[in-house]
Amino acid sequence: MNDLFEALDDINPAPRLLMGPGPTNADPRVLRAMSAPLLGQFDPQFRDYMRQTSELYGRVFQTQNNWTLMIDGTARAGIEAALVSLIEPGDRVLVPIFGRFGHLKAEIARRCGADMRGIEIEWGTVFEPERLESEIKAFKPKLVALSHGDTSTTMAQPLKELGRLCRVHDALLYVDATATLGGMGLPVDGWQLDIVTAGLQKCLSGPSGIAPLTLNERAEKHITRRRHTEQGLRAPDDRDGEGKIIQSNYFDLAMIMDYWSEMALNHHTEATTMLYGARECARILLKEGLQAAWARHALASRAMVAGLRAMGMRLFGDLTHKMANVTGVHIPDGVDGEKVRRALLEEYRIEIGTSFGPLHGRIWRIGTMGYNARRDAVLVTLGALEAVLAGEGAKLLRGAAVDAARNVYREAQ
Ligand SMILES: Cc1ncc(COP(=O)(O)O)c(C=O)c1O
Repeated sequence: MNDLFEALDDINPAPRLLMGPGPTNADPRVLRAMSAPLLGQFDPQFRDYMRQTSELYGRVFQTQNNWTLMIDGTARAGIEAALVSLIEPGDRVLVPIFGRFGHLKAEIARRCGADMRGIEIEWGTVFEPERLESEIKAFKPKLVALSHGDTSTTMAQPLKELGRLCRVHDALLYVDATATLGGMGLPVDGWQLDIVTAGLQKCLSGPSGIAPLTLNERAEKHITRRRHTEQGLRAPDDRDGEGKIIQSNYFDLAMIMDYWSEMALNHHTEATTMLYGARECARILLKEGLQAAWARHALASRAMVAGLRAMGMRLFGDLTHKMANVTGVHIPDGVDGEKVRRALLEEYRIEIGTSFGPLHGRIWRIGTMGYNARRDAVLVTLGALEAVLAGEGAKLLRGAAVDAARNVYREAQ
């Protein structure tokens, strides 16, 4: 044991420029906020930070919802909390799948005992609204659950009409905005989304570990029907809701809402350090302005696309629906994709993404998100990729990528 202790140094990772599909580098201000001293979770100062965080994320989600709160855990903790709290065994759930994270929601819905119907399209495309409408009409789901942007394919599903459609057909709508919140517009009230979750590690410039969640009165009604207070916390006059108890204790939104409410009913021990980080992510984003942040992401994406094209690379997927914060690009024929990623990491300390499922070994995914949706990050990544590809014998026009990206930035000034 002593030997191990002596052999270990302090944690001192090499610097990295994280240009994959997330995580991205955290804004240094977020990391500084996270080094603030710990408070007890019921300390009035800490409860104030919770209230402020809730209010800030209400603005980030562009909603007047009564409930905007943080789920402790990575983005999929938010997904599980939303799905397990809404789905009662046997409920019909429609999951439109256009990438890996659609499959994730389908799997979680199945685990919740849903009568789940997954509908799939080719990766790199999105659903036509007419298809979604006819599926909703035919299946009559209680809940429709899908991603806004799916980082596995780099596609963003248009959602503008879907909320209205779900209301007409009396379905709830859950949206996983892990990969887009802060980087693309997502007007939760404007698009009539009932429950939405996100993560910090993409466009919000933080580390993973908290999932912001917002829900409206339609979703609240379903959740409070299932409210069951934990035995050790019950008051004598506590009455359970008439719905089935939520299968998960940790992700029981009814209990988490009691914990976040003025009642402050004990549930988990809040991850205070993560909450500081989440609060700082939202504060920084709102200080920049939502529109300005979306424009910054769109510009970085245009510059990355222009650079890759100038290099002669082929982009992946239906570009009219490409996410603003991540770009899929075909690995050129004859190039070993993993060797290139390794050289980028070892020689330049830059990380870009590989891909999953049917796209594995076919495309790289390059993120321009959150703190890294910046000109210098785009230019350095393009320059490094070009040098490594040239070293691998790829035929490309040297210098063209960085020039093209610089031009995009220059024209935007
Ligand atoms: C759309 C989407 N949903 C969910 C997740 C899972 O997030 P996490 O790894 O934080 O649980 C990701 C991560 O890339 C994602 O892009």
